[in-house]
Amino acid sequence: MAFKNLNSVLVVAAAVVLGVKAVDNGLAITPQMGWDNWNALGCDVSEELLQQTARLIVDYGLKDVGYHYVILDDCWSVGRNASNNSSLVADPVKFPNGMAAVADDMHALGLGFGMYSDAGKYTCGGYAGSLGYETVDANTWASWGVDYLKYDNCYNEGYAGNQQISSARYRTMGNALNATGRPILYSLCNWGEDYPWNWGSTIANSWRISGDVYDSWDLYDARCPCEGPNAFNCELPGFHCSITNIMNKASFIVSKAQPGAWNDLDMLEVGNGAMTDAEYVAHFSMWAAAKSPLIMGNDIRVIQPKDLAILSNAAVIAVNQDPSGSSAARRWMYDTNNTDSNGYPARIQMWSGSLQSTTGGDYSDMVVLLINGNNAETVMNATLADIFVDSGEQGTAPQVKMSWEVRDLWANRMSEADAAAIIAGSSAAGNATNATTVVAPRFNVSSTSYAEGLASNNSILLGNVTTTVLPSGTVLATVAPHGAAMFRLRALPTAVMKRDEL
Ligand code: GLA
Repeated sequence: MAFKNLNSVLVVAAAVVLGVKAVDNGLAITPQMGWDNWNALGCDVSEELLQQTARLIVDYGLKDVGYHYVILDDCWSVGRNASNNSSLVADPVKFPNGMAAVADDMHALGLGFGMYSDAGKYTCGGYAGSLGYETVDANTWASWGVDYLKYDNCYNEGYAGNQQISSARYRTMGNALNATGRPILYSLCNWGEDYPWNWGSTIANSWRISGDVYDSWDLYDARCPCEGPNAFNCELPGFHCSITNIMNKASFIVSKAQPGAWNDLDMLEVGNGAMTDAEYVAHFSMWAAAKSPLIMGNDIRVIQPKDLAILSNAAVIAVNQDPSGSSAARRWMYDTNNTDSNGYPARIQMWSGSLQSTTGGDYSDMVVLLINGNNAETVMNATLADIFVDSGEQGTAPQVKMSWEVRDLWANRMSEADAAAIIAGSSAAGNATNATTVVAPRFNVSSTSYAEGLASNNSILLGNVTTTVLPSGTVLATVAPHGAAMFRLRALPTAVMKRDEL
């Protein structure tokens, strides 16, 4: 029947059409993954930090599950060299061997090297910015072997205020990067100012959608002034934005995410210590489902086993790296009788989105994400009608009349014992042991991409079957306070139905 193929046809059509609209550098076909020092370490950067972190990313299997770019954030330069074409000079104390040597170290480990600068006179930390020096800086980075640029928005000399002015300022650097001939992933960091989701896709691979994230689930901070369910037109992006604040902003613009060009919800806070385990699980799930870049923001040198287990969950990462490249969308959000940290009604919400089919059938798989904003454990449910509302309103979608296998994407989270054994066995951490603990099989993108793993039904990516949802049924989950439940729904073969049942 024609309608049966509709979902997958739409996804393919979207990829074909949208592929030509995104920036044409061939990068970030799925959201970029990596690590950046800023959230945990701020300006405390050095060659040694990057080298040690890179070795740990390899040793801990984080490279294997997809984290690729090691990104050096602000505070790395000592200014410009007037006698050398005004090029930026790396701080010789922090980087005694120079940046090209750091890039070589990253490449030798099979990782990419990311660099930070600012589309203004100074960086946010007050170091030399790149406004007016786009070509010379792009050439410098290319000569060092840089693979990624995070490009900030401080001290922009007032070249902002509408989409044309901001986009022109950021386009200058995009053109300069492209002109180097080196593929350099371009990550805009203008905090959602001047609606970068409207123009970012033609010049860059991702754009920040909000002021800086901080390590809090829902605490309101006046320095991130846009809050609440309608906080969208945010003239002052601010910083200290909570996880739920950023999730809310993302909900309005999910359709802007596409292969090669992504809404960046900001770096992960998993492992930075101020949120509960359930909150970190929900944060990671949300960023994955919304197709945000997954850039770890914790100090990997002191990572705790439970956080390694979250960041390593390939079944959740597979949602983020899904070849169909479309973000999940929020289907509903309800107030509960409880209050959040600010005294407002605590909210529960449900997101769903289509994924590549792993059944070989006509229907896309579906991710379902239940988020519990309540400070108490909550039984949550999502009807097939709501999950599949994009394929037909009020329960009219053909998928509502089918049965679905429900697979829990957190069920196979690595055990803390396994994660502890991996950490204990790392020679880069200086504590190699002869641990004999058997670690559960892990996914490895250097032998199998996520696209291949999904196409071949790799069980590590598919989670655990919990139940079956029957036609017109409901997905049920008991969700921890400030936690999430995340499922992959797979179509079950339908019995031959009579015409009037269709
Ligand atoms: C801004 C960015 C952050 C970080 C700092 C560095 O605040 O949004 O992600 O790069 O600058 O100074």
